[in-house]
Amino acid sequence: MSARVVLVTGGASGIGRGIATAFAAEGDRVVIADRDADAASRVAKEIDAHAVTVDITDAASVAAAVAHVAETIGPVEVLVNNAGLVAGGGPLTSLPLEVFDTVVAVNLRGTFTVTQAVANQMIEHGTRGRIVNVSSIGARQPTAGLGHYEATKAAVDALTRTGALELAGHGIRVNGVAPGPVHTPMTAGLMDDPQARAAWESRIPLGRIATTDDIAPLVLFLASDQAGHITGAVIQVDGGQLLT
Ligand SMILES: NC(=O)c1ccc[n+]([C@@H]2O[C@H](COP(=O)([O-])OP(=O)(O)OC[C@H]3O[C@@H](n4cnc5c(N)ncnc54)[C@H](O)[C@@H]3O)[C@@H](O)[C@H]2O)c1
Repeated sequence: MSARVVLVTGGASGIGRGIATAFAAEGDRVVIADRDADAASRVAKEIDAHAVTVDITDAASVAAAVAHVAETIGPVEVLVNNAGLVAGGGPLTSLPLEVFDTVVAVNLRGTFTVTQAVANQMIEHGTRGRIVNVSSIGARQPTAGLGHYEATKAAVDALTRTGALELAGHGIRVNGVAPGPVHTPMTAGLMDDPQARAAWESRIPLGRIATTDDIAPLVLFLASDQAGHITGAVIQVDGGQLLT
């Protein structure tokens, strides 16, 4: 298979970094698109990839980054919408609206904006592209205090299905992966607290928190020709947590 141009948002850390590393190991031309410019360049250097600075909450920044990638590396063939955050937690009755707005701006509006820009580029170039959205099992299973985050991920799942339907005629497939808890900088605070970690582990039938290496292979599969008849699916990687 020839080297594809793979754009990974939030690829400078955690799950996105793991996904970017796995595509690079396959010989693809990976672009780490992150708002943390230093971390993006550092990781790009480590895995022999490219870096582009982008804030996915800013449509102009997204448009510039997506155009820059097409001009300097080539049109995007695989998009991984991974950038996301939790930004704090709390019950619906007291969660500050600023936290809600921040999470909606990155996880939902950002995913929408990047998808729109890249899907238009794919259509323009006649690219039979693949889009993989990083969701969360929280979209389907509630955890108290995370309602704001989970609502954005449920919305990402809805976008995955609508995108799959609307883009199918262009030969573009859109799928999602829904991790359970994963060891990353996002969850490091929780995982360092033995009690909190045990509480998360106790919900997982396979008995352990995922690593980024548990998530990346499914993303690569969904972006591969082997998944040629799969679109609109959101597949969990959660050690069985959704069964409980
Ligand atoms: N860690 C988990 O337990 C877990 C579980 C399920 C789903 N997820 C999802 O996986 C994805 C990655 O999470 P992670 O744990 O690796 O987080 P992380 O904090 O380690 O990495 C997130 C990356 O996204 C970047 N980013 C944040 N906002 C951005 C913006 N506006 N524009 C561009 N880049 C931005 C950050 O700079 C960072 O590099 C997120 O969508 C998250 O919701 C994580």
